Amino acid sequence: MELAGKSIVLGLTGGIACYKAAELARGLVKQGASVQVVMTQAAMHFITPVTMQALTGKPVHFDQWDARIPNNMPHIDLTRDADAIVVAPCSADFISKLVHGGCDDLLSTLCLARPSTLPLLVAPAMNVEMWENPATVRNVRQLEQDGIAVLGPDVGDQACGETGMGRMLEPEDLVEEICAAFQPKLLRGKRVLVTAGPTFEPIDPVRGITNLSSGKMGYAIARAARAAGAEVMLVSGPTALTTPAGVQRINVQTAEQMYDVVMSHIDTQDVFVAVAAVADWRVANLSEQKIKKTADDAFPKLEFALNPDILAEVAALPNKPYCVGFAAESENLLQNGAAKRQKKGVPLLVGNIGHHTFGKDQNELVLFDEKGHTQLPLADKQQLAHQLVAEIAKRLA
Ligand code: C5P
Repeated sequence: MELAGKSIVLGLTGGIACYKAAELARGLVKQGASVQVVMTQAAMHFITPVTMQALTGKPVHFDQWDARIPNNMPHIDLTRDADAIVVAPCSADFISKLVHGGCDDLLSTLCLARPSTLPLLVAPAMNVEMWENPATVRNVRQLEQDGIAVLGPDVGDQACGETGMGRMLEPEDLVEEICAAFQPKLLRGKRVLVTAGPTFEPIDPVRGITNLSSGKMGYAIARAARAAGAEVMLVSGPTALTTPAGVQRINVQTAEQMYDVVMSHIDTQDVFVAVAAVADWRVANLSEQKIKKTADDAFPKLEFALNPDILAEVAALPNKPYCVGFAAESENLLQNGAAKRQKKGVPLLVGNIGHHTFGKDQNELVLFDEKGHTQLPLADKQQLAHQLVAEIAKRLA
């Protein structure tokens, strides 16, 4: 519930991406926001106010002269208690209106009359030629100079049958971007590398050794660091999770691959957060062909080799970034966590109980540093990730 207590005016303008605005409204409500939809006449060709009202629980506004507002000034009243205005989809025409201060309908008038401190975020959606037209390029540059956040667009297949830049960001990515807009930019200008998920160490082409890490905590930290303004790289073992919006993700399978990717990018990082549950051992005598079950039930003899300890090696580099380790323990967390911090040579180690966290949406953390330990009580992993990012930023400062 990252948007609990937030009031968002969601503006819809004319474009086929209006069908995605229904999912966006639902996503914002799911995050706890109160959503007031305002539609242009063109938007109502694509989706009805009935749909948007049903999803947000509030009557939709589309008329400048709406007598439902006691003083008949919806262009003022609708934004004075709002925490943000989001226009999604935002058409080329509406971008042009925002740039030139046009105000011939409720939504554009409301945007022009917004308090200067009220954030305005727009998610462009249009045909690729419209997006690449020099007029739109000029307008978008001007929007950004005016302090309006431009989210997307994305590249890909378009409803018109053409392919290119201009698709509206997917609703779940927009929800993430909107949540991020409310986070303080504690890591602005910093580069953060996060490892996440399990590793998979093959035995033969179809079998392997892995663990129960879902990657949720690491992905939440990557998302939180991005929301705090950092440039984030996520090196991930096999997971079923979607990449957090705006995060560069590199997929790996084994600990050695994770080591290689981390080491080739570590020089430019300010912070390294090792959340991955990296296998300590790999199979040294892995078979090129599938190992067959033999009639006499003779078991295959696996030999193991030690994997590189990525965190310890990064922490030992002469020009190391600020290093944060994780410890998934099954017992004696306080003792083991403090000892692991020393052993790994990191300034901050985050402890959790492995079988309490693996695969779950909630977690509780214990932070170990040179002064002792602090508890972050049971909460959603995303909420804990924001708290952890704030703790990291405090220590960086
Ligand atoms: O030694 P242990 O596996 O408990 O240490 C956990 C911490 O070390 C985590 O931060 C994990 O990401 C990191 N680690 C690593 N490379 C390994 C083993 C663990 O980076 N080979």
